[in-house]
Amino acid sequence: MDLHREAGLKNDTLLRALACQPTEYTPAWLMRQAGRYLPEYNATRARAGSFLKLVRTPALATEVTLQPLERFPLDAAILFSDILTVPDAMGLGLAFSEGEGPRFERPLRDEAAIRKLAAPDPSAELGYVLDAVREARRALAGRVPLIGFSGSPFTLACYMVEGAGSDDWRTLKTMLHARPELLHRILEVNARAVTDYLNAQIEAGAQAVMIFDTWGGILSHEDYERFSLSYCRRIFEKLLRQREGSRVPSILFTKGGSPWLAAMMKSGCDAVGLDWSADAREARRVAAGKVALQGNLDPSALFAPQKSVREAARRVLDAFGSAPGHVFNLGHGIAPQTPVDAVSALIDEVRTYSRSHRSRMAAGT
Ligand code: CP3
Repeated sequence: MDLHREAGLKNDTLLRALACQPTEYTPAWLMRQAGRYLPEYNATRARAGSFLKLVRTPALATEVTLQPLERFPLDAAILFSDILTVPDAMGLGLAFSEGEGPRFERPLRDEAAIRKLAAPDPSAELGYVLDAVREARRALAGRVPLIGFSGSPFTLACYMVEGAGSDDWRTLKTMLHARPELLHRILEVNARAVTDYLNAQIEAGAQAVMIFDTWGGILSHEDYERFSLSYCRRIFEKLLRQREGSRVPSILFTKGGSPWLAAMMKSGCDAVGLDWSADAREARRVAAGKVALQGNLDPSALFAPQKSVREAARRVLDAFGSAPGHVFNLGHGIAPQTPVDAVSALIDEVRTYSRSHRSRMAAGT
């Protein structure tokens, strides 16, 4: 019985691959597939007036969510939003200044602010995200599944304590070593906030969810389990697993997570995202067909001529092999300078090469 197709999805390749079921080809989507490398994204962003207005206007967020699908035969849409909406809803005051990246007006610097921190009610403070999920689902009309997402408790804490991006995360790391109990308090609140937020996205129509642990890789071996993975595990324990008669799979991506792939695979997620430093063959061996894998082309491969892009795509597909349970993606977000034609070549190569590889296997050649 085909549950996803029954739920009205015309292309359920992503959900099948995440469930380690056979697919006709390797499904593909790209982290940051809606973004500044697309001229139509820049036009909509200009119309919105700012990145945050774009994120907070469901009709415009829906428009940019669908833009990459109009250009490339991708197998998923990812909700257009940002991980920092959650700390913003906690009252930290998110701002994006031109060319500078995110900044919080009220970072968590003293014990009193940390004691007061509370998980937001998603339907109240993050209603605009849930509206965007509902509107994007309507606009997609079952073409491909919609992926919802959140930052990991640790990655959110990095920005909440530091107040902005950082090269060394010195404020955060000082708190970790000097006052670990304060960081744990933030992480507990974040874990509750992320659980409620992802479950609200699932109830609004997200058909898969992904946790972005962009900064987990800055942690020492022991601290990764203590300060990042253990809180992700709590989230996976409480995520809604079933919606509209389909399983809602979860993906965990830790940038720089290669040393901990086996532990990530046992955290309760359905799939692990790999950055480009990961050994795909070894990861497939450890996953043993029980957990799906997503990744892991180096995003800078897209700066090379199309012939090289196609070769790079084939190398990634060969490394993962054609057994069920691989979702093609980049190892991190697509860069704003990426040529659109390189993305067309990439997605075309993944589709045609993985399809022909499967038919060759079926024919026993
Ligand atoms: O993948 C998608 O297409 C969905 C959209 C998406 C965005 N941010 C849009 C965005 C997703 C999934 C994110 C997640 C996100 N946001 C992460 C984790 C993923 C990762 O890349 O590791 C992080 C760390 C953030 C925080 C954030 N938002 C930063 C550091 C920046 C500035 C960096 C930059 O590229 O300039 C943003 C802004 C942002 N989020 C942009 C987009 C398209 C660029 C904003 C613009 O249009 O100017």
